[in-house]
Amino acid sequence: MELTELWHFPRPELARAYLSTLNAGLVTSTTIFAPRRTGKTAFLLRDLKPLAEAEGYTVVYADLWQTRQTPGAALVRALEEALEPHSLLEKIVARLHAPVKALKAKAEFAGTKLEGQIELANDRKWEIADAALLLDALVAELTKRRPVLFLIDEAQALGRSKEGEEMARALRTTLTKHQTKLRMLFTGSSRTKLGHVFTNANAPLYSAASAVQDFPLLGDDFVDYIARRFKESTKRKLDTRAAREAFELFGRRPEPLMETVLAVMMSPMLTFAEAVSMQQIKLARTENHEGTWNGLDATERVLVRMFADDPSMKPFAKATLVKIRKRVGIEDLQATHVQKALGRLAEKTVVAKSPRDVYEFENESFADWVRNIVD
Ligand SMILES: Nc1ncnc2c1ncn2[C@@H]1O[C@H](COP(=O)(O)OP(=O)(O)OP(=O)(O)O)[C@@H](O)[C@H]1O
Ligand SMILES: [Mg+2]
Repeated sequence: MELTELWHFPRPELARAYLSTLNAGLVTSTTIFAPRRTGKTAFLLRDLKPLAEAEGYTVVYADLWQTRQTPGAALVRALEEALEPHSLLEKIVARLHAPVKALKAKAEFAGTKLEGQIELANDRKWEIADAALLLDALVAELTKRRPVLFLIDEAQALGRSKEGEEMARALRTTLTKHQTKLRMLFTGSSRTKLGHVFTNANAPLYSAASAVQDFPLLGDDFVDYIARRFKESTKRKLDTRAAREAFELFGRRPEPLMETVLAVMMSPMLTFAEAVSMQQIKLARTENHEGTWNGLDATERVLVRMFADDPSMKPFAKATLVKIRKRVGIEDLQATHVQKALGRLAEKTVVAKSPRDVYEFENESFADWVRNIVD
């Protein structure tokens, strides 16, 4: 377990506030925004989920940041996981009622092209309509049992593709249909991209969760908590004021602060200020995705985006070359140009061919970043 997980600073009041808002029923869904790495997911899973479960909700969690899966597959998988019985008793009861397979059969019966067991891992062949139908059927089944709180993390991904937009519409329909028993909470880490999904006039989830709320970032009380934990473990005192300043400097993201504290913990000779500047150097080296992107030319960018979506992409295959030409917008782009661009990408330590014959990103978080670019 990571240190950051061991030292989770609970935020019960915040969880209570969100849940009460949703319970009140004036809104059936809400959207929260906060920059990356500021604690959205931890809050959903460690604070909000347990509280909602204690209040009788079935909590379903889908993370749309894992873009290897299509949004439709990620949503359906999350619902299926919630439906899948865990205890033996539940298993028996579920067998008597409606297991997932039967649900699928029912959906098939309803006149769609569902083909038996849907292969979730390889979902490319999915019809969007199938996913939408399954989504609705699963929600119907879950809400029969208990009220459902559907947490959809990094929901801006719904604006990235046609399929995502269709799924957003399906979510909206489902939400309207099951509004007495269903609540949704969306998060996102890009305000503009969230706007494409929720607030712009033609956004697919427009009326459902149009007001995007700022998620309150962790503050001084979090730093004080860390200082207390530090003291408990080391019997030494942490300069709380310096730590609060550092936390601000780190954009109120927990990880760099914790790494700094850890460094001081492990090397008692290291001053806190020294540890902070070491951390800053490290951050500057790893986090400048935008700078990396700006340093790429058009061909390099197209290649990077294609590799981010498919590391086993063959850049010299005829069809691929045609695609690259089209995306770069240069008709007479040749294989040699691609080869040179690949050479430059390797030189810049962005993407390089691995011994396993796939193209690998030097920094996986840059690949993630690239995957989430919206044109
Ligand atoms: N309340 C907290 N107490 C302690 N650590 C926390 C807390 N919230 C978040 N963290 C730590 O901060 C890091 C980032 O948190 P988290 O992944 O929840 O952020 P996020 O906003 O969901 O980030 P991403 O943009 O990557 O999805 C994690 O290592 C997490 O353990
Ligand atoms: Mg997250």
